[in-house]
Amino acid sequence: MTSEHFQVLFLLLFCVLHSSEQTCPSKCLCMSDTVRCSSVGLHKPPQSLPSFPANLDLSHNHITWLEPNTLTMMPRLEKLWMAHNEIHTLSRNLFRNVSGLRLLDLSSNRLQIVEQHYFHGLWRLEELRLFNNRITQVEGSSLSGLRSLKKVYFSFNQITYFPFFSIQDHTHPFLAMLDLSSNRMPSLPWEDVKALPQLVQQGLYTHNNSLICNCSMYAMFWHWSLREYNSIKDFTDEHTCNVEGDPHRPIRFFRDKWFFRNCTVEKSVTEPEIILLSDVVVFVGDRVRLDCQTSLNSTNLSFTWLSPSRGFITQSSMNDTLISMFPDGTLEIHATTISDSGMYLCTAVDIKQALNGTREVNVTVLLPASEPFNTGYTTLIGCMVTLVLILAYLFLTPCRCSFCKQPPVHSNQGTLSCILSSFTREQPNIDTLKHVAFREHPMGEERIEWIPQS
Ligand SMILES: *[C@@H]1O[C@H](CO)[C@@H](O)[C@H](O)[C@H]1NC(C)=O
Ligand SMILES: *[C@@H]1O[C@H](CO)[C@@H](O)[C@H](O)[C@H]1NC(C)=O
Ligand SMILES: *[C@@H]1O[C@H](CO)[C@@H](O)[C@H](O)[C@H]1NC(C)=O
Ligand SMILES: *[C@@H]1O[C@H](CO)[C@@H](O)[C@H](O)[C@H]1NC(C)=O
Ligand SMILES: *[C@@H]1O[C@H](CO)[C@@H](O)[C@H](O)[C@H]1NC(C)=O
Ligand SMILES: *[C@@H]1O[C@H](CO)[C@@H](O)[C@H](O)[C@H]1NC(C)=O
Ligand SMILES: *[C@@H]1O[C@H](CO)[C@@H](O)[C@H](O)[C@H]1NC(C)=O
Ligand SMILES: *[C@@H]1O[C@H](CO)[C@@H](O)[C@H](O)[C@H]1NC(C)=O
Ligand SMILES: *[C@@H]1O[C@H](CO)[C@@H](O)[C@H](O)[C@H]1NC(C)=O
Repeated sequence: MTSEHFQVLFLLLFCVLHSSEQTCPSKCLCMSDTVRCSSVGLHKPPQSLPSFPANLDLSHNHITWLEPNTLTMMPRLEKLWMAHNEIHTLSRNLFRNVSGLRLLDLSSNRLQIVEQHYFHGLWRLEELRLFNNRITQVEGSSLSGLRSLKKVYFSFNQITYFPFFSIQDHTHPFLAMLDLSSNRMPSLPWEDVKALPQLVQQGLYTHNNSLICNCSMYAMFWHWSLREYNSIKDFTDEHTCNVEGDPHRPIRFFRDKWFFRNCTVEKSVTEPEIILLSDVVVFVGDRVRLDCQTSLNSTNLSFTWLSPSRGFITQSSMNDTLISMFPDGTLEIHATTISDSGMYLCTAVDIKQALNGTREVNVTVLLPASEPFNTGYTTLIGCMVTLVLILAYLFLTPCRCSFCKQPPVHSNQGTLSCILSSFTREQPNIDTLKHVAFREHPMGEERIEWIPQS
């Protein structure tokens, strides 16, 4: 090549770079460090996007696909909003040149499979939003390499299995939110979930899935509720499972405790002292045994129980027809009464090594009348009573409601839905926002709000 060739090439290159840096695509708003092209009816990203932006907003359009080189000329990009589009797949190397990306919002799109190459190279990504897509599958290593990740939202998809094993302390040291709520997981792989880093467990949202009820699941949620994780506190009633996988027989982990009365839940709770706890639900008259397993492993221990109704119980002090205590510390109540309900605390003392171990059991004694499967039936009766009252009100009230508009239609609807709900046992839809762990626009304060003048 001659030097003229070089000059021409240089000029061309300069022109291309120069023009691409200066022009703002039509329909878009270009500001200091932000390009905003949201809600402008785009079917694909603008041809020549400027190279300067740190924030690019392409949300609320009809974009179906991004060319592999869409973002390569935007090396400074830090936040990319593409929510509410029609993207169903991401091309390979899409994020090749934007390793500075910290927020990626692909929520409310049509993604189906999260492939392992999707987020390749995004090692500084802190927040990934994939909620409200059509994701059925998350490939094993799709999140690997995302070392800086803090929050990931997968809720409102159709995921049946999630690769928990791919999330570990050294791979994701900062991950504090993993939202998998409102998906279709029939079970959680407990060994993998238990092995999750503490920080991830604290921020793991799994409510409103199609879990099949069993004791190990109950144990896990119960344990998390003891630790007062927000995922449990904020969505207590949404933690449900299905009896034998039947969606028409939902059980709420924290309300319908009777269902799990045969489950023994024993978990260490606080470090360094390990306290073993369990929750025992029995009916009046049942015989119940409370073991005193603690973290102590010595064979020569002395045990003391503190019971809510009888005070301190030791082996020598207590051996009657109502209650007895065995040499291994187990306490047996022969026939429970309502007053036996409460927290039982066992202390095991290893005198030789001057160690104490503690065990707590929360005993709930129920009246036999509180047959759980009757709940639907009682609701139905409640509904019928309401119906009768409403009819009585409508027909017996002398003033036929001159001030209130169409009350009969309204109350009929209410009654019908009330009756229906007694069969389907659905939750009243009080506040749909509460059911989601994500907030639709948490970036509101960061995003530059702009009302285009038409
Ligand atoms: C990546 O960005 C740099 C500028 O930082 C640019 O020179 C390079 O050509 C880009 N790479 C690709 C593959 O476009
Ligand atoms: C539960 O998840 C389903 C989808 O799996 C969704 O349609 C429904 O709205 C969710 N319910 C709540 C209360 O979030
Ligand atoms: C509960 O379900 C999990 C996951 O399917 C399974 O690993 C575990 O063995 C089950 N536990 C019981 C007590 O059935
Ligand atoms: C609990 O155990 C009792 C007797 O062992 C059994 O009759 C009952 O069906 C069990 N309950 C559940 C929910 O599995
Ligand atoms: C009991 O546990 C201690 C540590 O907590 C351990 O050093 C000791 O070997 C254990 N003894 C037995 C008999 O298992
Ligand atoms: C158990 O400990 C008690 C009190 O320290 C002691 O009197 C007793 O001999 C010990 N028994 C055994 C079998 O070590
Ligand atoms: C209770 O005392 C009787 C004798 O008074 C004894 O036979 C029985 O083994 C004791 N039971 C327990 C659990 O220690
Ligand atoms: C064990 O508990 C007793 C009181 O029950 C207390 O005085 C003692 O300090 C405790 N020992 C240890 C090692 O915690
Ligand atoms: C014990 O169980 C009952 C009913 O399940 C519950 O209301 C209560 O809060 C529990 N107490 C503790 C200290 O966990």
